[in-house]
Amino acid sequence: GCQQANCSETLKEGMGLTPEGRRESRVCTVRVPINIALVKYWGKRDQTQNIPLNDSLSLTINSLHARTTLRVNYEIGTDSVKINGKSQTVTGSRYQRVFEEVRRWERKRKAGEVAEHPVSIQFEITSETNFPVSAGLASSAAGFAAIAECLQKIFGFTDSQKSQLARLGSGSAIRSIFGGLVRWRRGTQPNYEDSIAESFPSTHWPSLRALILVVDEGRKEYSSTDGMQRTVETSTLLERRIECCDVNIDKICAAFSNRDFSAMADMIMRDSNNFHAVCMDTSPPLMYLNDVSRTIIRLVHVYNEKNGSTVIAYTFDAGPNATLYLEEDTVQDFLDFATKQLRFAESAQTEVEEILGHKLDESVNN
Ligand code: DP6
Repeated sequence: GCQQANCSETLKEGMGLTPEGRRESRVCTVRVPINIALVKYWGKRDQTQNIPLNDSLSLTINSLHARTTLRVNYEIGTDSVKINGKSQTVTGSRYQRVFEEVRRWERKRKAGEVAEHPVSIQFEITSETNFPVSAGLASSAAGFAAIAECLQKIFGFTDSQKSQLARLGSGSAIRSIFGGLVRWRRGTQPNYEDSIAESFPSTHWPSLRALILVVDEGRKEYSSTDGMQRTVETSTLLERRIECCDVNIDKICAAFSNRDFSAMADMIMRDSNNFHAVCMDTSPPLMYLNDVSRTIIRLVHVYNEKNGSTVIAYTFDAGPNATLYLEEDTVQDFLDFATKQLRFAESAQTEVEEILGHKLDESVNN
């Protein structure tokens, strides 16, 4: 079965043959959550395999997920992918990269057997997300982790193969395979076998909350893939960032173990700001934050100052949307404070009120 508590699955299989002698199709449905990085993955040392330059750390956000169905037909046909009802281009896409890898593995496996039926495999994916896709909200992470999970169920792949497929789709997807606090190790082996994710033990922190502030639902200006490659090619600050990631991850994990929210929150904000500094150091610069994002940053710092300790943290991925981490007893007070402050804010007033009033999504890690 499914190794993570937050992933539900069903697998219908037809092992038999159809009256025409074809193998029956197999269908699998899973639900896999997104993850938001606390120490960001930014920069690859292998672009085709999505192998990172640095270790990264994330929290899996259970209530935001992709529900994905994969149907495998054993016949020749065109692969198809539909996300939230919209057909995606498959030719030349990451989906195709994943599908081709599976076909390659299956051909290799079949070569050793008496292949009654040649390896003709057609993939059909339909996926629904309960959050906006492509707005820097890690939709590809949930989506590709779900596809990898389905592929494992249907083809009986090992956990290592599942991780490889998720990563091939999107690097950050490798972390969504696990729940709680998850570290993706960059790996040192030449075959990348050890570039895998692992769950940090005892991550149950029931009062921990994540608030996602959807600042902009639109598509991002530069994809993470293109953005991080541009950073690798042009930023001199990136090298320094990479040197610090392991230490910062250790600090956050230690703070997490001690349930030391302030220490953890401080490191989360530092990594987010460091990451966006590196984005600004890219040429031309990657400007993922907008005025509303910066207003949120200011509000969080003012609130923490008013409190006398760090009780709330923000982090921003490759887009303007904020993820705030805080404990349950802070949520209402912060929202009241933010609403009141924003009423007096001169800039972006209506936009921000809309976010806080209607689009706020509260999520809980497990
Ligand atoms: C800023 O995993 O989307 O969200 O491997 O090219 O698909 P590819 O990139 P992707 O990058 C995520 C970048 C990030 C930080 C993170 O999630 O660690």
